[in-house]
Parts: sequence; C-alpha cells; structure tokens
Amino acid sequence: MNPAVGIAILLAVLQAARGQKVHSLTACLEGLNMRLDCRFENSTKDPLKFEISLTRENQKHVLQGDLGIPEHAYRSRLNLSTTQNHLALYMTSFTSKDEGIYNCQFQVPGEVTHNPGKNLTVYKDKLARCAGISLLIQNTSWLLLLLLSLPLLQAVDFVSL
Ligand SMILES: *[C@@H]1O[C@H](CO)[C@@H](O)[C@H](O)[C@H]1NC(C)=O
Ligand SMILES: *[C@@H]1O[C@H](CO)[C@@H](O)[C@H](O)[C@H]1NC(C)=O
Ligand SMILES: *[C@@H]1O[C@H](CO)[C@@H](O)[C@H](O)[C@H]1NC(C)=O
Ligand SMILES: *[C@@H]1O[C@H](CO)[C@@H](O)[C@H](O)[C@H]1NC(C)=O
Repeated sequence: MNPAVGIAILLAVLQAARGQKVHSLTACLEGLNMRLDCRFENSTKDPLKFEISLTRENQKHVLQGDLGIPEHAYRSRLNLSTTQNHLALYMTSFTSKDEGIYNCQFQVPGEVTHNPGKNLTVYKDKLARCAGISLLIQNTSWLLLLLLSLPLLQAVDFVSL
C-alpha cells in the first residue's frame, strides 16, 4: 500500500474525532461490479437520512437515499445493504462511463449544521479488487510504521499517567 493511503486513513480518523459523520468512503471491484463502502458514525437514536450521489461532468446524479430523489436510470443496476454504521452500494457492470466523484452524506433530522460527507473520485482502472480489511495491513512498510509508532503511543500514555 502507498504511504499516502496510510496518511489518508489517519486523516480520516482525525476528521472523525472532530465530529465528522462519515468515517470513510472507499470503492473496489467485485468481478464486474463496483462496491462503494460508506462507513459512518451513527450516534443518534433518530433515523438518519442519507444520500449517495455521483457527480460526473458537473452533473449530479442521486443514486440512493432519502435526501434527494434517486435517478431512475441507475435503479436497476444498484442494490444497497445497510448495517448500523455501514452502507454498501453495489453497482453492477461498472464501466468507465460510471467514473466520477462519488459522495456519501447524512443528515440527522433536526440538526442545523449541514455535513458535506465525503467525496471519492473513482476511476475504473484504479479500482482495486475487493478484499478483506486485513489486506490493509499487509504492506510491510505500513506494518513497520504501525509497530514503530506503538512505543511512541505507549510513551505518550506513560507521560500522561
Ligand atoms: C508497500 O508499499 C511500498 C511503498 O508504497 C511499495 O514500494 C511496496 O511495493 C509495497 N509492498 C507490498 C508488498 O505491497
Ligand atoms: C442509526 O441507528 C438508529 C438506532 O440505533 C437506527 O434507527 C437507524 O436506522 C440507524 N441509521 C442507519 C442509517 O442505519
Ligand atoms: C447486490 O449485488 C451484488 C452484485 O450483483 C451481489 O453480490 C449482492 O449479493 C447483492 N446484495 C443484495 C443485498 O442484494
Ligand atoms: C464533493 O464534490 C462536489 C462536486 O465536485 C463538490 O461540489 C463538493 O463540495 C465536494 N464535497 C466535499 C465534502 O469535498
């Protein structure tokens, strides 16, 4: 894995600590289909409203959700599975015509602040195959970085005691 990706993950975590509702937005290829994973923080009891959209050639297309009205053209190619803090959107027969900026966002009913969610630019040629999350830590440089940072974290912990 590219160190930049590690930094991006770190930044995502830091942003989450600042109250960002969407933790991460990632995409991968499963056979011919694209899977978009949106992980979010669900900290309220109220049902959240969400929206997954694609912006392509400056045109926004709502794919799924209850904030905007999903476009009919995509409906037959999409399915969504939801758990407490994870949305997985499948788009069948993904082609370069589906490339663009994907966005995942939420709105807590009654909350005034608008949360822009997260953007992810998807190119078909750059999509990785879907795999287990453990693959993230397979790169030795990433693992090394993690191991090297552990004593540091422990030291910080020690000082704060
Ligand atoms: C791990 O990441 C480094 C830096 O991006 C790269 O040069 C190396 O090939 C990667 N190793 C593996 C096993 O993916
Ligand atoms: C968030 O959690 C609440 C209750 O714990 C649930 O009713 C709601 O459907 C969840 N929202 C999503 C988008 O899964
Ligand atoms: C969604 O579509 C993908 C790809 O066709 C399939 O593997 C998955 O089982 C489907 N999930 C649901 C919830 O229908
Ligand atoms: C996401 O991309 C859209 C389209 O380019 C842009 O209008 C929006 O501000 C971006 N949102 C974030 C959170 O970067």
